[in-house]
Amino acid sequence: DVGPILSDGTPFADLFDLDKHEVSMRLLKDPEVYRLELSRLFGKAWTVLAHETEIPNAFDYVARHIGADPVIVTRSRSGDVNVVLNICSHRGMQVCRGEAGNEKQFKCPYHGWSFSEQGKFMGSPVARENMHGAFRSKEELALPKARVELYAGFVFATWDEDAPSLDDYLGEIKFYQDLMFDRTESGLEVLGPPQRFVIPANWKCPGEQHAGDGYHAMTLHRSINELAASEADDSSMYGIDVSANGHGLRLIDRRKGKWKDNREAVLAAQTLPPFEKLKSIMLPPGMTPEMAEKLDKKLSEAQMKVLADYPPSVGGLFPNMGTFCFEFPTPMGMAAIISWHAFVPRGPGKFEFINWFLVEKDAPEDFKDLMRRASTLGLGTTGFVETDDADTWPLMTESAEGFMGEQQKIRYGALCGEDQPLDGYWDEGEFPGGGHLYPGFTKDDAQWNWWLRYRDFMLGDPWGPEAHH
Ligand code: FES
Ligand code: FE
Repeated sequence: DVGPILSDGTPFADLFDLDKHEVSMRLLKDPEVYRLELSRLFGKAWTVLAHETEIPNAFDYVARHIGADPVIVTRSRSGDVNVVLNICSHRGMQVCRGEAGNEKQFKCPYHGWSFSEQGKFMGSPVARENMHGAFRSKEELALPKARVELYAGFVFATWDEDAPSLDDYLGEIKFYQDLMFDRTESGLEVLGPPQRFVIPANWKCPGEQHAGDGYHAMTLHRSINELAASEADDSSMYGIDVSANGHGLRLIDRRKGKWKDNREAVLAAQTLPPFEKLKSIMLPPGMTPEMAEKLDKKLSEAQMKVLADYPPSVGGLFPNMGTFCFEFPTPMGMAAIISWHAFVPRGPGKFEFINWFLVEKDAPEDFKDLMRRASTLGLGTTGFVETDDADTWPLMTESAEGFMGEQQKIRYGALCGEDQPLDGYWDEGEFPGGGHLYPGFTKDDAQWNWWLRYRDFMLGDPWGPEAHH
């Protein structure tokens, strides 16, 4: 199957060279490609909209987008979370103009039709017979509702009735993502509303990067190492790239990197059982020793072993999400950052960056405050990290615009293949958790898998037996 045929006669499948592992730069700017993505990809994939702690009370809401479609994420009296299309069934005005708040009913600003937090049509200012015809049922005038599921408090939605459950969609990456976001019984909460800003770049630039581009940290983010008053080195390049269902995550080899300050202790601790390691020398980012005491309530033995030896740090969920849990050097000392990003398309050359900072609910207040400051300094709009990346994405997108530019390729040649991390550190046979594993120096495999998953959606068969997992 070659997928859709573009208006100049190019089959969509020709934008990929599967033998050479190259992708056409036309994918980064073409408005026709973008239109196809809205239906074929964003009409089907599960994407994240909010964290449920943004809307803790009955009738709280936030306004967001699934792809280019405006939606309202609401909380019902029963506690259920709903996602309804924010497009009035009268003339198409957006019924909710606020960004966040608490409303029992959404009254359209144009002519005043009202809808419940579940999208039910509640009435109009003038009698039904005059204004919308007796032949229309209330059901017909309701706002469409998306399918909703939560993972670690994050609200995901999809329009596709045929999509698998969120659990199946996450697949084998969930085992590893749990180590960052689902490791306590109390769970996470947001550190205030997310930062939101628009970047003049195609959404796929950050989308594919977060699936596995550890490589750029060495050059683009070098200033972080240099400012951290520790030697700049390539230690964060080592570990295991994990990939499943187009999602990607980087596990860091704990014997290297910022832990080298206490390298002796880390090496000495290697003989300890995983739970003991985690409670002492290898405290997970964002946890106090008291909180780590309860890790075994939520994580399996295998998960604790991975967390102690190869903690996950930076990842991406297909198609447009970034996930983070790591320690960051600040003037206040080392501090943890827990963050999620969404890259929401707002046209072929523009996306909205939604940036959530989180913390364990049961962390002490001063600990939360330190994480708030570290998060802003590290991954905030004016911080050290995202400002580096925000320089590259717009220029990649601009490059794709010209006569020569759109004929160029982006290349993923550093494919090293799957392997087990049998490096003397992990020596117990098969690595738990599954997924495709790429141990050693970070490489292109996970990002290439992201593009194969993208291709599945665009050619039209993301849930079929031929799809990439
Ligand atoms: Fe909403 Fe008319 S467009 S009431
Ligand atoms: Fe980066």
